[in-house]
Amino acid sequence: MTLQNDLLLRTARGELTERVPVWMMRQAGRVLPQYRAVREQAGSFITLAKTPELAAEVTIQPVDAFDVDAAIIFSDILVVPEAMGLPYEMIESRGPVFPQTVRSMSELSRLRVADAESDLGYVLDAIKLTKKELNNRVPLIGFAGAPFTIFCYMTEGKGSKTFSVAKKLLYTDPDFAHALLQQITDSTIAYLQAQIRAGADLIQIFDSWAGILSPEQYTTFSLPYIKQICDLIAGPPDRNVPVTVFAKGAFFARQDIGQLSCDVVGLDWNMDPHESRQLIPNRVLQGNLDPCVLYADFAQIRTEVKRMLDGFGHQHYIANLGHGIYPDTDPDKAKCFVDAVKELGAA
Ligand code: CP3
Repeated sequence: MTLQNDLLLRTARGELTERVPVWMMRQAGRVLPQYRAVREQAGSFITLAKTPELAAEVTIQPVDAFDVDAAIIFSDILVVPEAMGLPYEMIESRGPVFPQTVRSMSELSRLRVADAESDLGYVLDAIKLTKKELNNRVPLIGFAGAPFTIFCYMTEGKGSKTFSVAKKLLYTDPDFAHALLQQITDSTIAYLQAQIRAGADLIQIFDSWAGILSPEQYTTFSLPYIKQICDLIAGPPDRNVPVTVFAKGAFFARQDIGQLSCDVVGLDWNMDPHESRQLIPNRVLQGNLDPCVLYADFAQIRTEVKRMLDGFGHQHYIANLGHGIYPDTDPDKAKCFVDAVKELGAA
């Protein structure tokens, strides 16, 4: 089965391509009115995510609406803790909440390594169905949170600006922190391997809270676990599924991330393209337009896209935002971003 549009995969594998591929982090389920209609039909985010037919539908919506070069499976990074035995709730306009947290060895002993097929079968079914319905139009991206980012939510129990409860544990009980991080890592490796078997064409690891750590803590508590994932999920050579590591805010770790066995390094808008190329000479780069640029007028969006393309160059580069698209973005502005990359990003 060959993809009609495999631009993203060829670029991710390090090939020279005819233009810069483009997609947007969090492109599914945030800005489209079509999404909100399906979300209402489902009743809740979690029901939607657990209903493969609906998850496939909202995964494909941005491909139709924006003509992006990839789809990303509609799910959430927090399905992994749930599969480990720590269920979450998604509270309207507040975000995810874990009614129970895990902050000690004894609490950890109640959790298990997730079994991908039985505990996360609904995501695997959604991937299989999406692949079928996409009918080889574009590649499908699978994903998971990086162990440290998942650790933040499991210990803190909810979103936070500082994640000081989570960070405190790194200092007060590092043995527990490492034990939980390892259990998340083992769950994530099995889960991503299963996503690849189900048909995911590329895997992205989201370390959304990397930037709250000091360089030393990042080296101790995040990087080694991402390394294990990268080393183990590459899969059989005939599948050759590229891996992207996106560590938001971890400008200090770019050199180290660039030496992992990953193919693509995702960057946020604080990271300068030229400096990033110097620090990460042998990887494809992805990013990094400030999502707030999409609040500007159409002409300004094009100007900023041009500046970004000039900064990265048109090869070994995947255009994206520097973090997820914000929910109140005008879909026409998102389309303008995608169109501008396609128009200005030829080889
Ligand atoms: O990219 C996509 O569009 C695919 C789906 C996707 C979701 N979450 C769906 C979702 C992806 C890739 C994620 C990843 C995710 N989830 C991350 C990493 C990326 C990042 O943005 O840093 C994180 C930290 C989470 C945890 C999470 N889930 C939060 C903090 C929230 C609340 C705020 C928000 O982002 O909307 C969610 C909820 C969530 N995940 C929604 C969606 C569509 C909104 C829930 C709803 O529709 O009610």
